[in-house]
Amino acid sequence: MSALGSSCTEPGPPLWLLAELTYRCPLQCPYCSNPLDFARHGAELSTAEWIEVFRQARELGAAQLGFSGGEPLVRQDLSELIGAARGLGYYTNLITSGIGLSEARIAEFATAGLDHIQISFQAADAQLNDLLAGSGKAFARKLAMARVVKAQGYPMVLNFVTHRHNIDAIEQIIELCLELEADYVELATCQFYGWAELNRAGLLPTRAQLERAERITNQWREKLAAQGHPCKLIFVTPDYYEERPKACMGGWGSLFLDVAPDGTALPCHNAKMLPVQFPNVREHSLRHIWYDSFGFNRFRGDDWLPEPCRSCDEKGRDFGGCRCQAFLLTGDAEATDPVCAKSAHHGLILDASRQAEEAPLGLERLVHRNARTSEIICRSRS
Ligand code: FES
Repeated sequence: MSALGSSCTEPGPPLWLLAELTYRCPLQCPYCSNPLDFARHGAELSTAEWIEVFRQARELGAAQLGFSGGEPLVRQDLSELIGAARGLGYYTNLITSGIGLSEARIAEFATAGLDHIQISFQAADAQLNDLLAGSGKAFARKLAMARVVKAQGYPMVLNFVTHRHNIDAIEQIIELCLELEADYVELATCQFYGWAELNRAGLLPTRAQLERAERITNQWREKLAAQGHPCKLIFVTPDYYEERPKACMGGWGSLFLDVAPDGTALPCHNAKMLPVQFPNVREHSLRHIWYDSFGFNRFRGDDWLPEPCRSCDEKGRDFGGCRCQAFLLTGDAEATDPVCAKSAHHGLILDASRQAEEAPLGLERLVHRNARTSEIICRSRS
């Protein structure tokens, strides 16, 4: 293995491959994690190129494959990709908005061997859901498709990204998920990357909102456990109310391998905006990319850590936190993650949470993610 920016420890294999099949999407969520400049990204990998990526990743040891986007359903070859992945022995998971699903397509994916479906919702009521999604019929479609997914026997995750505009309806969200017979419910407070970072002042919930939502979720957990109900509720808090950083991706280049629609290989789906050169699967083998490329070794191990992280006794727990967050907030990808109370930049996090209390932006001020707004952002930055 190359010694570039890494400690001497040999990395293990990638366990989870995320195939971001496309940045195309019929919805316009203002918290999308896709890059702001997605409108100017290169040509998508072909069917044959994706299958070769799956083959090489499986050979390295990857066991789970997520199909994501954008909206992966816009790829007309999705069944073929699922079938190829299943043939290679992956556990496969479709991460979708549900827009573009149909009863026939769900059955076709089952025949191809799809193991698991995750459908995202924007809110528990049609009006807010469709306003956030930028599509008048999205909520009704999602409800219908979630029912078909269950009727066809798939394990189903329902995902709600929560923020200041929907988090107060946490009770209704949980009730809706139970009515739809979700096996898992992800109540994931917005993480501030990509479009969510752009809209942070309009999305970050207050501490009081967050604490209330967590309390209600815990009450529901107890109630469901007492009933022996199979549904599991997963509550993800935002970094902005923490004092220690998360172990992002389980450590840089440790477990997670993301391939963007144009074939760029990344250690997380936000890393493309970092000032780091990342390799492309069209030019290099995945073995070279994972073990030897500069990008995947850049923040591996702990040789690169700045102080106070380098001498911190918690570095084995958080692996230096999140590089994308450090870069977005400080402009320096090597900086201590500002979420950490020991960081000299922790004031940035405190300022953001204060702003959420004092001067939140309204729903109407959110910038929705679409090709037009992406193009405007690209032009303003060039
Ligand atoms: Fe990229 Fe955390 S999201 S390192």
